[in-house]
Amino acid sequence: MIVTGAAQGIGQATAEAFAEAGARVFAVDIKGEAVKRAVAGLARPSLHHARRYDLRDIAGLGGLVEEASESLGNLWALAHVAGTLKRQPLDEVGEEEWDLQLDVDLKAGFFLCRAFGQALVAGGRGGRIVNFSSPGFIRGTRLGAHAYVAAKGGVVSMSRDFARWYGPHGITVNTLLPGPIDTPMQHTDNTEEVVAAGVAACPLGRLGQPEEVASVVVFLASDHASYISGAAISVTGGALMY
Ligand SMILES: NC(=O)c1ccc[n+]([C@@H]2O[C@H](COP(=O)([O-])OP(=O)(O)OC[C@H]3O[C@@H](n4cnc5c(N)ncnc54)[C@H](O)[C@@H]3O)[C@@H](O)[C@H]2O)c1
Repeated sequence: MIVTGAAQGIGQATAEAFAEAGARVFAVDIKGEAVKRAVAGLARPSLHHARRYDLRDIAGLGGLVEEASESLGNLWALAHVAGTLKRQPLDEVGEEEWDLQLDVDLKAGFFLCRAFGQALVAGGRGGRIVNFSSPGFIRGTRLGAHAYVAAKGGVVSMSRDFARWYGPHGITVNTLLPGPIDTPMQHTDNTEEVVAAGVAACPLGRLGQPEEVASVVVFLASDHASYISGAAISVTGGALMY
């Protein structure tokens, strides 16, 4: 399994859940030391691989997938969890922030999923891709995440397009809409009042834990989810119903 954003938060929990389920993990993150530590903490750590990589390096993504294939012995699932969020008032969003959000949260995923999809097609055994969007893709943001939600809307459209393209090869492509989840991103540039407002808007009345999202990724990568593709799945404790 390839897991991006595996150094912390939902990506780290996903790597842990895959390792617990007996899978080998190729863990990718821009935070090199942190992803090494995360892999050292997985079940049977010697089976897994930590790789520092900035997913904005588009030209190298094909090579990254090849490296993962060699490291794992074969490819089955990509959990593309990595993302970044810069919160700021709408009127302050500049071109630089727009480019950062779109480059990390949309462009990198497009080329990574395509490289992974090509490798799965060549392998001929099917496979799974799980991408990460946000409830903000449907409802917009109250939280200063304007360019971020624009990118996350693109993630859903892209994933549905890829689901059509790769479906005939036995490859499913789905998107998760998590939140509010108790991770570093939840608390970055955020106030406790805003976090509390997110909790208040959630029928379960609490933040979700990263493990509660990771388990859905493992389900989507398993045989139990063989007929689910093109779905955008709310993992929000009921905060997003649609
Ligand atoms: N936490 C939430 O409530 C929430 C809500 C909605 C959507 N999401 C989405 O879920 C996913 C995981 O979120 P999280 O809360 O665990 O985030 P997080 O910030 O805790 O972790 C994200 C990880 O991605 C890595 N990353 C960022 N840019 C990278 C790059 N260019 N190359 C490689 N790695 C990079 C970071 O280093 C980090 O380890 C993200 O896509 C996020 O947008 C989270």
